Amino acid sequence: MVTYIEALSAPMKNTGAIRLYGADAFEGMRKACQLTARCLDELADIVKPGVTTNEIDRFVFDFGRMNDALPATLNYRGYRKSSCTSINHVVCHGIPDDKPLREGEVVNIDVTYILDGWHGDSSRMYPVGEIKRAAERLLDVTYECLLRGIAAVRPGARTGAIGHAIQAYAEAERCSVVRDFCGHGVGRLFHDAPNILHYGQVNEGPELREGMIFTIEPMINLGRPHVKVLSDGWTAVTRDRSLSAQYEHTVGVTAGGCEIFTLSPAGLDTPGIRR
Ligand code: MF3
Ligand code: CO
Ligand code: CO
Repeated sequence: MVTYIEALSAPMKNTGAIRLYGADAFEGMRKACQLTARCLDELADIVKPGVTTNEIDRFVFDFGRMNDALPATLNYRGYRKSSCTSINHVVCHGIPDDKPLREGEVVNIDVTYILDGWHGDSSRMYPVGEIKRAAERLLDVTYECLLRGIAAVRPGARTGAIGHAIQAYAEAERCSVVRDFCGHGVGRLFHDAPNILHYGQVNEGPELREGMIFTIEPMINLGRPHVKVLSDGWTAVTRDRSLSAQYEHTVGVTAGGCEIFTLSPAGLDTPGIRR
């Protein structure tokens, strides 16, 4: 049984109930999410061959501090960085380090800022110099998966409609959907109910209602869907070492569909965009 609660009267922990937020929360989320989007915009000029993921991570930390925000990942369940940087066959939760990026790699950068208590969670793919056509195609397919998932969001639909739209498109393009990680409710908590699966059937999962806020963040592989987590406890990689990509937006359900809080103010959140 799913239950829905007014966010204002709900305890600050994940009880499994789905929070319904009002206008003030939407305004708070808009601000936090736009800060995240602006950071991801800035990174478009920073990501290039020779740059280390620790340098990227340092930028994410500093940009947050300059804007009164803290990265939500810092000290989250023992994670020690301000961002996740997932290169090539890394599916998600790649840990920034001192290795320079190399021409032809693709890297997902995932940033969540906490601003005034609200979490803005988004990620994009960045090509490092010139990339192969297969990589370009995977980025296009994954971004289209995110857009199709978002297009399925409206009051009365179920969360399964989001997953179904994503899975149908990914598999029609001979790609696979990672099952081990999902989107999530977000707001004053980083990870909250409900889970947003990126696969499934339209009649599955809780019904979407106006005022819900969650992420959609499909991870799509060129090869098989299976992943394993490395001995660092975080880095998730494809078992077959095939290329993996991910895009993530935070959205709020409105009467007519949804508002994408993490849209790029500069229009830089689509894979084709290079400066
Ligand atoms: N930002 C990720 C997400 O989209 C979560 C990262 S948690 C971390 O949900 F601890 F790995 F950083
Ligand atoms: Co997320
Ligand atoms: Co994220």
